[in-house]
Amino acid sequence: MAEEPGAAFPLDANGRDAAEIPHHVAIIMDGNGRWAEDKGLPRLEGHRAGVEKIRSVLDALARRRVKFVTIYAFSTENWNRPDDEVEGIMSILRDVIHQETRALHEQGVRVVHLGRSDRLLPDLREAVSQAQDLTQHNTAITLCVAFDYGGRSEIVEAVRQIVRSGAKPEEVDEKLLSSHLYTHDIPDPDLIIRTGGEYRLSNFLLWQSAYSEFYTTTVPWPELSATHVEEAICAYGRRKRKFGALTPDP
Ligand code: IPE
Ligand code: IPE
Ligand code: MG
Repeated sequence: MAEEPGAAFPLDANGRDAAEIPHHVAIIMDGNGRWAEDKGLPRLEGHRAGVEKIRSVLDALARRRVKFVTIYAFSTENWNRPDDEVEGIMSILRDVIHQETRALHEQGVRVVHLGRSDRLLPDLREAVSQAQDLTQHNTAITLCVAFDYGGRSEIVEAVRQIVRSGAKPEEVDEKLLSSHLYTHDIPDPDLIIRTGGEYRLSNFLLWQSAYSEFYTTTVPWPELSATHVEEAICAYGRRKRKFGALTPDP
């Protein structure tokens, strides 16, 4: 990414970050519309400012050696918004793919789409598919973009695939179901950050978030800074993850 890991982030004797670093950070990028409205701007300006923010947050996480970042950009329920907002968001996404894919590729970012493709307009679907194909072998960091994504719809689709495959009931287990999710080759998120002040998942990574740590901030997404990201990572470092057992995970 743009900057090398800095001295602000001490390493231990093995060259790892001294503090506990989440391997996968997933972000519910909320608060764009209210941020714009508070400034007397159209909501779409909030979405534009929100997209601008992605790069700097991704850089901040990459500097902390986070290997997987998922951003929630458009939910299956966001189609229920007014047509002009939905069309505006689609057009912003189309622009950002065209403008950013080459630079992301050069920085070793693998881009993965999580969500339905069938409801996207053909040119957007094609752009998403080309971005994935171009970056598929990159290894610096994986950026999952949850777009037309819903956790319930993802699980329903996985179940449909399993039923179609003719699997026997006793063959269906958590591993099999996970292998049919959009995230089949992505580890579960360790930390989920929600900006914009709400305390809910809004249909985000329902299956995968079973043991994720949750962090919310009232800061709207367009105002999230590297310092805010650092606060979230530090909060994560203080959590004791037990996964149902009595002692923290070693
Ligand atoms: C999140 O910001 C982005 C999308 C859901 C597309 P919002 O548009 O939900 O912003 P608020 O919550 O109305 O402020
Ligand atoms: C969640 O935000 C979806 C995204 C950030 C893309 P929403 O604004 O759609 O969620 P609710 O409606 O407040 O639950
Ligand atoms: Mg919202």
